[in-house]
Amino acid sequence: MLFLFSLIYLAAARTALAATADQWRGRSIYQIITDRYALPEGADTTACDPNKQTWCGGTWSTIQANLDYIQDAGFTAIWISPVSQNYEGPRTAYGDAYHGYWIADASQINSHFGTSDDLKALSAELHRRNMYLMVDIVANNVMSTSITPDFSSYMFKEPSQYHPYCPVDWANDTSIKNCWLGDTNVPLPDLNTQDPTVAAGYATWIQNLVQEYNIDGLRIDAAKHVQPDFWTPFCAAAGVFCLGEVFGSDIGEASSYQQVMDSVLNYPLYDAIVQGFTIPGPGNITGVTTVLQQIQQSFKDPTLLGNFLENQDNPRWHSISVDPQSLYNAMVLTFMSDGIPIVYYGQEQYLTGAADPLNRGPLWPSQYGKTDAYNLTATLNQLRNYLVNNTDWATSRTQVLETAPDGISIMKGNVVTIMTNIGSPAQNVSVSAYTPWPSSFSSTDIFTCQQWAVGSNGSVEVQYTKGGTPVILVPDDLLKAANICQPVNVEAQARVNGALANAKLPVVGITLLAGLLAWFL
Ligand SMILES: *[C@@H]1O[C@H](CO)[C@@H](O)[C@H](O)[C@H]1NC(C)=O
Ligand SMILES: *[C@@H]1O[C@H](CO)[C@@H](O)[C@H](O)[C@H]1NC(C)=O
Ligand SMILES: *[C@@H]1O[C@H](CO)[C@@H](O)[C@H](O)[C@H]1NC(C)=O
Ligand SMILES: *[C@@H]1O[C@H](CO)[C@@H](O)[C@H](O)[C@H]1NC(C)=O
Ligand SMILES: *[C@@H]1O[C@H](CO)[C@@H](O)[C@H](O)[C@H]1NC(C)=O
Ligand SMILES: *[C@@H]1O[C@H](CO)[C@@H](O)[C@H](O)[C@H]1NC(C)=O
Repeated sequence: MLFLFSLIYLAAARTALAATADQWRGRSIYQIITDRYALPEGADTTACDPNKQTWCGGTWSTIQANLDYIQDAGFTAIWISPVSQNYEGPRTAYGDAYHGYWIADASQINSHFGTSDDLKALSAELHRRNMYLMVDIVANNVMSTSITPDFSSYMFKEPSQYHPYCPVDWANDTSIKNCWLGDTNVPLPDLNTQDPTVAAGYATWIQNLVQEYNIDGLRIDAAKHVQPDFWTPFCAAAGVFCLGEVFGSDIGEASSYQQVMDSVLNYPLYDAIVQGFTIPGPGNITGVTTVLQQIQQSFKDPTLLGNFLENQDNPRWHSISVDPQSLYNAMVLTFMSDGIPIVYYGQEQYLTGAADPLNRGPLWPSQYGKTDAYNLTATLNQLRNYLVNNTDWATSRTQVLETAPDGISIMKGNVVTIMTNIGSPAQNVSVSAYTPWPSSFSSTDIFTCQQWAVGSNGSVEVQYTKGGTPVILVPDDLLKAANICQPVNVEAQARVNGALANAKLPVVGITLLAGLLAWFL
């Protein structure tokens, strides 16, 4: 049966314009849990309590109806939670399968999120907007409510196609790969991906899924819980960019998976950013520099890594760091260093929630407002999209210019980025950098639109006497071409504000005031 499907699909003319790693390198991704992004018109916007761990009503159609919010922030791709059919049955100890990761029959679409046509329509609309669709997929395991499940209704029906039950021993690599994730409340039966019928079945399945829904890329759940050599033929069958989840700060382990698939989520950088930028936190900026350098040495291609600060498994930034300036500086690092930036829905709305299920709250209570974090995201995407389209920025490598007690400066392409972990309150400290720029060079900070003086020996210095805001220095000719900080915009802003004086108040000054208010209230 599976082989028959395989033949049919191999014979079918390929209509999808599959996106390669090279095409994804310059993209910017907005990550969505389908159930939590947007409600249909007229639905009760007060009913979703993440603690209840049940469906709140988001669908593929409601994502489609609300793409402007994502595109206006400059994103060029979305990543949606898994689309396959999930467990249907009595509530478990961890609620219902609203998140999509509890796979039952992978060959079916999850009707909670719409029809097959709805998913195709979302894909088509994204492509009409020149955006990519990344779909989260789970191949390591399925879900069950028993350690002796009946697999007859699943895509792989034979018990022999699964590893026998054992709880994961995290000190034993074979166990990490072959034993069952989850626990005895919600066991996650582990597929024997070394069984040829499983490998062939999965190859056929993913090729079919990608082609039917015109998918541009895959985010691969629990990639490190599968034998690495499974992924090369799997991703070849998919024919699109593969981004794997290799949870943990071990650079050796994470980088080994880039030998078998295009890329992985940048967990090593995430962990270093948390240690370096959270407030309160250890403030380990040296660790950020060390990890940035180790990434360059260890990964086959650091410019393809998926950089993030939040996701459905890790705490919301706002729950581990109280000061909004720490979010802005950390976000700037994920956008301006090597890799593909990923923003988890709601990060731009300061959503809170330390752990699953609280880090999966609904987005609609935010009313999709143009917050400072949203605007900062839009500015970062505008700059990065321009650099990607018009310079060799995406393939150029990050260089650390200076590591200071209070911050770090990096250069990628011809852009200098200076970040600090001091937070909103003003301090009499500074972070400097020696750039390759001559002392007469004109560059401008994209957030304040103020020109920056380059000193002798190419030095630039950021003083934090008004608080710890990030600074991105872009050569003036590039800035002009990217249409950022143009005088006409400043005048228009002044008219909106009804007072020309406001145009003189740097954007970051306003950001800082709002940040301080949010922090102290
Ligand atoms: C590691 O785990 C595998 C799978 O459960 C098991 O067969 C093996 O005995 C374990 N090895 C050790 C040293 O515990
Ligand atoms: C900072 O991070 C680096 C790299 O991870 C680590 O080696 C070092 O021990 C950390 N320093 C402190 C003070 O935690
Ligand atoms: C964000 O930018 C928009 C203009 O694009 C502006 O209307 C809005 O006031 C800004 N938000 C904040 C919080 O400054
Ligand atoms: C980048 O190029 C793409 C494809 O040509 C185009 O759709 C997009 O508008 C460009 N973006 C910027 C910011 O130049
Ligand atoms: C800031 O610090 C420098 C030395 O680091 C000192 O000379 C200067 O007086 C300080 N300024 C203020 C306003 O405290
Ligand atoms: C000049 O810049 C280099 C880095 O490019 C730095 O190592 C050196 O200390 C600087 N010299 C002076 C005199 O500031």
